[in-house]
Amino acid sequence: MKITILPNRVIIPEDHETLMEVLIRYQLPVQNICNGKGTCGKCKVRMTGYVSPPSDHDILHLNPLELQAGFRLACSVEPKDGMVIELHFVESQDRKVSALNKMKKTNLDPGVKKVYIQSSKPTLADERGDWDRVVEALCAVTGRSYDQTSLYILGKVPDILRAEKYALTATVSEDKILEIEAGDTSKRLYGVAVDVGTTSVAVALIDLNQGNIVKVVSTENEQTAYGADVISRITFAMESREGAMALRVAIRRTINHLLEELEVQTKVGMTEIFKMTMVGNTTMHHLFLGLDVSHLAVSPYVSVCNTPLEFSAMELGLEINPQARVLLLPNIGSFVGGDTIGAIVGTPEILDQGNHLLIDLGTNCELFLKTENTMMACSTAAGPAFEGAGIVHGMRAKQGAIEGVMITEEGVVCQVIGEQEPIGICGSGLIEAIDEMRKAGIINTQGKIVDPEKTPSLLPEQRKRIRSIERGREFILAYGADQGQDITLSQKDIGEFQLAKGAVCAGIKTLVEMAGITVSKLDSVTLSGTFATYLKAPNILNIGLVPDISEERIKTVGNAAHVGAILALLNQQELATAGELYRKISHVELGGSTTFSNYFMDSMYIERLS
Ligand code: FES
Repeated sequence: MKITILPNRVIIPEDHETLMEVLIRYQLPVQNICNGKGTCGKCKVRMTGYVSPPSDHDILHLNPLELQAGFRLACSVEPKDGMVIELHFVESQDRKVSALNKMKKTNLDPGVKKVYIQSSKPTLADERGDWDRVVEALCAVTGRSYDQTSLYILGKVPDILRAEKYALTATVSEDKILEIEAGDTSKRLYGVAVDVGTTSVAVALIDLNQGNIVKVVSTENEQTAYGADVISRITFAMESREGAMALRVAIRRTINHLLEELEVQTKVGMTEIFKMTMVGNTTMHHLFLGLDVSHLAVSPYVSVCNTPLEFSAMELGLEINPQARVLLLPNIGSFVGGDTIGAIVGTPEILDQGNHLLIDLGTNCELFLKTENTMMACSTAAGPAFEGAGIVHGMRAKQGAIEGVMITEEGVVCQVIGEQEPIGICGSGLIEAIDEMRKAGIINTQGKIVDPEKTPSLLPEQRKRIRSIERGREFILAYGADQGQDITLSQKDIGEFQLAKGAVCAGIKTLVEMAGITVSKLDSVTLSGTFATYLKAPNILNIGLVPDISEERIKTVGNAAHVGAILALLNQQELATAGELYRKISHVELGGSTTFSNYFMDSMYIERLS
């Protein structure tokens, strides 16, 4: 039996596999948020030619037009010989990473530089070897000695030397020569800062001569095909060696795709990239390196390694210059990784005098608290709701995503990225929608969508938008254009959101209590994460995402972890700061904490929380 994946890939199903399982086995991009249970509706593919009859899950998640057009859920499809499939995988997000442009200025000192040298020509009277000749010329210019080399460089010296009349450019880092190129290429020196999130991966290309950001690209982490959160990825990795390898390959492939995208968009060759810094939570860090994750998820929750690490790009299978330095920021503990260290480096005011809390919002939410006496960090499993996953019409913040919502007497006004027809809702839109629905009385403090027949206070337009579905009710945010699908928030979506925000709020209360202070003593609360840029303090407080403190103490920044990775790329001292920080921060484990469990139930209410 054979299946064609458009444009021209052929895959062969094994007995009893669903289409989703075959796609995953072939490492093809497909979203698998609910692990193939048919509940998330995200694994949409389009069948051309033979179209299988719609399953109950297809009918539940896809509208009649989609069904008619051949869309089906891959996890519901039983493979048949000759099937032709079109994949619908979102390749990049378009929202501007504006916070990156607002980052603090740092001195340009990346620890990698290019040196142009004119070497002498060999003669019978000067029979020094080619390599010796290059090293001597280089020492004369830089005043340093270069003891380390590699077969990669030695192999190319004779040709490079002679290509441009013994003029060449060496890329050096400390006492190591990373690359040699014929002629003068000293104007072209680049680095990349990579933020590996559980759901999204972002890569910033930086000109290391000028210190400016050339381009930022991001996309979904291909590992999402194996599970939505870190626990499901760890479980998958522990099931078999192949599973662990598939996750390692998926994340490296995601990064390499983004590097290729950068090359296409900027014309900067991948081999011109000589330094990479990387941040990510501990699970992403370990899976990227191919390290054992089995001890992360069981008590006493131990990582393989927390210290800062450095490898060459060649060792990691990254498609930048093979000799490029790849530096991973250190982890703090089992679920608090280099992304938190990056976020602290990216928001240095968090270390000022006083009590400061940093909340890095994502699928895995990390909290860092600095008081006059201590520095503590913990993580809380928010789940993917903030990143638009696990929500029926959820999506990442890209063109077509509802990012803001206002409920008025006349109806619902949606602010859509790209000012087009909405196709879904992203994290910031979700938070605003829930706050507005609560204020309008469409949901109560328990998060229940009210019965419109029994709620006379609702305005006619609001009542009209509440409808019953199989399980509970849903509220229509935007009617589908041209008979397309309505964008709604269902009771289940609100429940997912309550779990996420309850975990964050309970984590804050627990950490603050463990540090021996109260929430009222916090001088600042900073929310970071790509979508945090677009959050508004009143919404955050109204829905109880954070405990009630004065609005002016709440600050939202963008992807601070990525900013930290960029700063560490630009300046060696920032990297050294990251390397010192992780030793000073106490890691707190919330799993099994009764304080956390007690706070969690109370933190699910949609109201200002004390
Ligand atoms: S519905 Fe198919 S993976 Fe969730």
